Amino acid sequence: MTTPALIKALRGETSDRPPVWFMRQAGRYLPEYRRLRAQAPDFIAFCLNPEMAAEATLQPMRRFGFDAAIVFADILLIPRALGQDVWFETGEGPRLGELPVVGRMRELAPEAGEHLHPVGQTLALVRNALEPERALIGFCGAPWTVATYMLDGEHRTIGKGERAQARTYAYAEPQKVDAVLEVLVEASARYLKMQADSGAQVLKIFESWAEGLPDDLFERLVLRPHQALVRRVRDLGVTVPLIGFPRGSAALAERYAAEVAVDAVALDTACPLEVGKRVQAIKPIQGALDPLLLRAGGEALDRRVDQLMEAWGQGPWVFNLGHGILPDVPIDHVERVLKRIGAQ
Ligand code: CP3
Repeated sequence: MTTPALIKALRGETSDRPPVWFMRQAGRYLPEYRRLRAQAPDFIAFCLNPEMAAEATLQPMRRFGFDAAIVFADILLIPRALGQDVWFETGEGPRLGELPVVGRMRELAPEAGEHLHPVGQTLALVRNALEPERALIGFCGAPWTVATYMLDGEHRTIGKGERAQARTYAYAEPQKVDAVLEVLVEASARYLKMQADSGAQVLKIFESWAEGLPDDLFERLVLRPHQALVRRVRDLGVTVPLIGFPRGSAALAERYAAEVAVDAVALDTACPLEVGKRVQAIKPIQGALDPLLLRAGGEALDRRVDQLMEAWGQGPWVFNLGHGILPDVPIDHVERVLKRIGAQ
């Protein structure tokens, strides 16, 4: 059996070039995605339609031949599985309804995998269509990141990037926030287990809002819930490699790598090359090209790709962006990067 290059890298093996995939590699920068997306009534319906979601997952694979596909879904499917309304308004991002009572969410959490069964069907369809040397990635949002959306309520306009409302609650109503995180650990573990059973060969935990947390809060909202989630996923019998992405964790990325039992750590755009090297001494890393540089293109892009290759290229390293690809990135910039690293 062929072992995909991504899985080898996550096991700590090195090779002549890093495996490569891009966060949000399926999306609006692709004309074929925009055409497909126009056929769905709304974004959630699109994510929960296995044929359409599988097609969206495969589009960038056909066009660029990335080393891995990431299942087309969203981190905000979990609040729905817990009984909270989620919808997307064009140009506004996600909107969530009232937070269900914690007792009700606790009852629903063990069923999250079954509730999100369509994502499993997407994974099975994609795995079936994908060449054996390409890996299939499943994912979930980390408890804190998902909680920031769930707790935001009416306050979504205040301090967006700071997740101000959720963080205020974390201080002012610690018991409630910790209870929500606990529910999210269970629901996410069940969801990841279902994905592994459906064909996901790697699982990634997206902590998009690890940013701006003082270290005691980082410990409480990020480290502990990640540790609990990894433990629970392993208790459920999942053996595939796990990638943790503590986006915005800055100097705390090293502590994250040392204290959370994920197999690899994804680094964000702002991670200094030196910090990346120190994390790499602990476990395999992924990242971290600036999505804005990918948009800008040109020689500056080539230079940074070379710098990353120079700093992290001895591996183990998975080439990726430091955050998701933007909707207006020119396709030839993506091709330019792939050629530069010898992947095309
Ligand atoms: O290709 C892939 O990476 C797989 C699919 C994927 C999506 N969202 C599809 C999507 C993945 C892995 C995600 C993760 C996700 N979703 C995160 C974590 C990563 C990150 O970017 O920080 C977060 C925070 C979300 C929540 C979310 N979903 C927001 C804030 C938005 C609105 C902003 C936007 O870009 O429009 C989404 C919508 C979304 N999720 C889109 C896509 C392709 C765009 C909507 C559309 O095409 O209509």
